[in-house]
Amino acid sequence: MTSEPALTDKPEFQALLKEKDRLKNQSIVKLFSEQPNRANELTVAQANIELDYSRHAIDSQGFDALFKIIDPSESHRFATELLDGLKVNFTEKQSALHSLFRNKNSKKTHSIVSEIQKKMAHLVEDIVNGHKKGFTGKAFTDVVNLGIGGSYLGPKLVFESLSNYRNHLDCHFVSNLDPEDLKTTLLTLQPETTLFVVCSKSFKTEETLINARNARNWLMKAGAKDLENNFIAITENTKAAQDFNIPAGNCLLLPKEVAGRYSIWTSAGLTCALGIGWKSFSEFLSGAEAMDSHFKSAAPSRNLPVIMSLLEFWYRNCWNTQVHAILPYSHNLRSLPIHLQQLVMESNGKNALASGEFLEQLTASVIWGTDGINGQHSFYQFLHQGTLLCPIDFILPLSTISRDSDQHSKMVSHCLAQARALMIGRSTHESYNYLLKKGLPEKDSRDLAPHLRMPGNRPSNIISFESLNPTSLGSLLALYEHKTYFSARLWGINPFDQWGVELGKTISENIQAVMFKGEDANQLDPATYRLISKWKKTTLGD
Ligand code: F6P
Repeated sequence: MTSEPALTDKPEFQALLKEKDRLKNQSIVKLFSEQPNRANELTVAQANIELDYSRHAIDSQGFDALFKIIDPSESHRFATELLDGLKVNFTEKQSALHSLFRNKNSKKTHSIVSEIQKKMAHLVEDIVNGHKKGFTGKAFTDVVNLGIGGSYLGPKLVFESLSNYRNHLDCHFVSNLDPEDLKTTLLTLQPETTLFVVCSKSFKTEETLINARNARNWLMKAGAKDLENNFIAITENTKAAQDFNIPAGNCLLLPKEVAGRYSIWTSAGLTCALGIGWKSFSEFLSGAEAMDSHFKSAAPSRNLPVIMSLLEFWYRNCWNTQVHAILPYSHNLRSLPIHLQQLVMESNGKNALASGEFLEQLTASVIWGTDGINGQHSFYQFLHQGTLLCPIDFILPLSTISRDSDQHSKMVSHCLAQARALMIGRSTHESYNYLLKKGLPEKDSRDLAPHLRMPGNRPSNIISFESLNPTSLGSLLALYEHKTYFSARLWGINPFDQWGVELGKTISENIQAVMFKGEDANQLDPATYRLISKWKKTTLGD
């Protein structure tokens, strides 16, 4: 792996900035009239996903300049280095193995991958078919995943997204240190028929270990003698899991070369594989594999992750946008924005280059969003008339496998309406005429018109697929992973480490020593100390 020169140093970047100046007041609607076939030309359908990127403030000349910032061979090289298992994680000097878990060929070359998957498949079969039972000999009815970050968000998203593929096992996801999370989850569950999956790569994460301890106590109180039946650990740190009394046979390896936010394809996917069964989980892996081969083989101008990454570069680094919204038109995809928040912000919220120098360019945006229908009645006002430019990804399953297809089609209409309204906007004059037509007096119409004006020209992608199923979901998540990776390569940062989360964890240990062990508070700053004193008064009455 070679380290890349900073993009801002390239003359191609300066040329791109000129394009931005040329296009900054360009109407997107006008671009459609100048390029009659734009809707088709700026749509790519590959690997179960269609990307419509026609609603952007960029024309053919701008795209030419944008694609020039990468060497044509670069996208293939970046993809190959990742997918062939090269050490792309340069700070931890290791490969990023997540995509090997969905690649049939690499399973042959990486025995660890096939070993983990075999064990996982057996466990899933045994548990779903009721052969593996709880501590009183009853089959399981519920699975509780105890984990946080990537050991929570991905599994929860996939289980929710594939709710139409569920079997009889009900899966629950507990992540919060707040005891209310586990307490409310356990309210309706029976210890005898509840399986706990402790998912923690490090097996050191405080939040997860406290929840696991409380779950263990709950089982013991109900009569379990050990954790042989009702506990499984997913971890790299099998020693710590065994010290916790989870038998070695119940431990599934989560390799250190897989960062949490990329781990859904591995043993960390166990809980959702239990909930949807092995067949659907395998289809989910195949969907991702289709995206992997597309990423590796397609030319940059037809390559979905590359196009999305370059458009991110266009807005972030040329227009200096700060935010990016993810708006799925699907209740089942409601957790997608928060999963992508971790994927993008933990991967690319960085500024150090391989050389040790600091990047002066902007990297990851703030990723935010919610399901589009609820968002419409909450923050879309800001998208339409707010003063911050926010590129949007609308995520759109075109149909549904459930029986309520008329209702689903209405959601499709809302998604298309929002993308169009954001693009075309409404001028003050149009607003004035609209108000007059509604019967408002002339003066009132004139006064009110500016408040109805919408600037328009708000850019968006529409990422659609036939229906939300295991295959399309796998392709969609892999698309975002590769887009994130490609952006990191453009910027020259490492998307697979997360050193930025360490300091907070260390300081929380220091603070706990002051709060609970009476250690000297002088080591802390006055603002922190003041609130500790207040906490003492409130909680301990000191
Ligand atoms: O603190 C951040 C983090 O390390 C994430 O990267 C990870 O997904 C999460 O915590 C959980 O970590 P673990 O699986 O080791 O408990």
